[in-house]
Amino acid sequence: MTDTDQTTLDELRAEYRRDYDPYAASTISEHLGELADRREQLPVSYSARGNGCWVLTEYDDISALLRRNNRGVVSFPNEPDGINAVGTRVAQIPIEIDGAAHRQYRQLLDPIFAPKRVAQLADELELQANKLIDEFIEAGTCDFVNGFALPFPGATVMAIMGWPLEDMQQMNRWVDVLLHGVRGGSLEENARARGVAHAEFSAYMMKKIPEWRAAPRRENVTSVILDAEIEGEKLSDEQLFDFFVLMMSAGLDTVQSVLAQSMVYFARNPARWDEMFSTPETLAPAIEELLRWTTPPVPTRTVADESLEIHGLRLPRGERIHAPLAAGNRDPKYYPDPDEIRFDREAKPHLAFGVGPHRCVGLHLARLELKIAFTALRRRMPTFGLDPAGPAPQEHLGLAWGVDDVHLRFAPGPREH
Ligand code: HEM
Repeated sequence: MTDTDQTTLDELRAEYRRDYDPYAASTISEHLGELADRREQLPVSYSARGNGCWVLTEYDDISALLRRNNRGVVSFPNEPDGINAVGTRVAQIPIEIDGAAHRQYRQLLDPIFAPKRVAQLADELELQANKLIDEFIEAGTCDFVNGFALPFPGATVMAIMGWPLEDMQQMNRWVDVLLHGVRGGSLEENARARGVAHAEFSAYMMKKIPEWRAAPRRENVTSVILDAEIEGEKLSDEQLFDFFVLMMSAGLDTVQSVLAQSMVYFARNPARWDEMFSTPETLAPAIEELLRWTTPPVPTRTVADESLEIHGLRLPRGERIHAPLAAGNRDPKYYPDPDEIRFDREAKPHLAFGVGPHRCVGLHLARLELKIAFTALRRRMPTFGLDPAGPAPQEHLGLAWGVDDVHLRFAPGPREH
């Protein structure tokens, strides 16, 4: 870049400057309010925080950016502040990989995540969901995140990966720290905690990978990826580890967040819980609306071509663009009264799973999990509310927005297993 170009870029950044804190200690609705205000005042803005990034707010801009992937933008690094979630500069497979190698990964992964393949897990997932409910149903109260929303997708990922279920809790803990750091921790404390979790998770996997390589292959993601050849080469242990971290983080935090946010909503709006189950046909569209409304992930992209045009602005190579999908999913252009949950919306397809080449590989699995989870919860706890004896729900932002401290109260019922 020439000096003149740098001056132009500095001027552009100054003209569009409105700093943005992706890790603000605000609630999701406050943060969505901030994004709605930006959408009206300055739909594309520049934040100088961290290493600097542009912030999008409109559905069309976010969708255009994600669709352009592999054609002028790359997905590395995925954090708005320009720091890789696992504390390294190595691109995570497949989410931070683009081009031909990414297509090869998707060709391998897409078939194992196809609707018919994931449907084979349905009985096992239903059993796991009901076993988790067994653990709290007699008590009439539960810590919903730790008792269900976190372990259920954990069990699902373990099942599709073919990993030992008894190691799940430990894995969930590592992934939680990698993604969120420590609650209320400073940047340094978070970095340190992530470093420790990364080292422990890596040590665990480095022991397991040779065992899996030597074991007979099975119908699961681990077997497929162990035998994969990308650009003519088998994956190294490090690449496998990166991929495994991604599978855990992508599959856990997202489903957990949708479940937890939804249950808080239903606890406060019990008539909607009934409405979701009013006929056998109402559940699937209701889940799509819950996905739109909860939308946890917030991807970021980097301009890879000489420049990229977005919303009439020409951004040069190296600029990072942050795309909070939830902002796109609350764009009133496509969703009238966007903050309202309406199960009968005839709206544009939501962006919760992303769009373009990196569109979520696990979306059919996620939909199946949500359907199984809500159905089991409905059958065993037909009515529930927030437990006044427990702490109030605490929302958080970050790489996946979500809610902790979801304590529910309901009529006790019998164990089934
Ligand atoms: C409600 C649940 C889920 C939501 C909302 C969700 C959302 C997303 C989004 C938005 C992306 C694209 C990110 C980007 O463009 O940078 C993505 C990618 C991905 N998701 Fe999901 N996801 C969910 C569940 C899952 C599950 C259950 C799995 C697997 C067990 C999974 C595995 C992945 C993988 C591997 C990618 C990377 C795809 C690629 O780079 O080509 N996700 N997900």
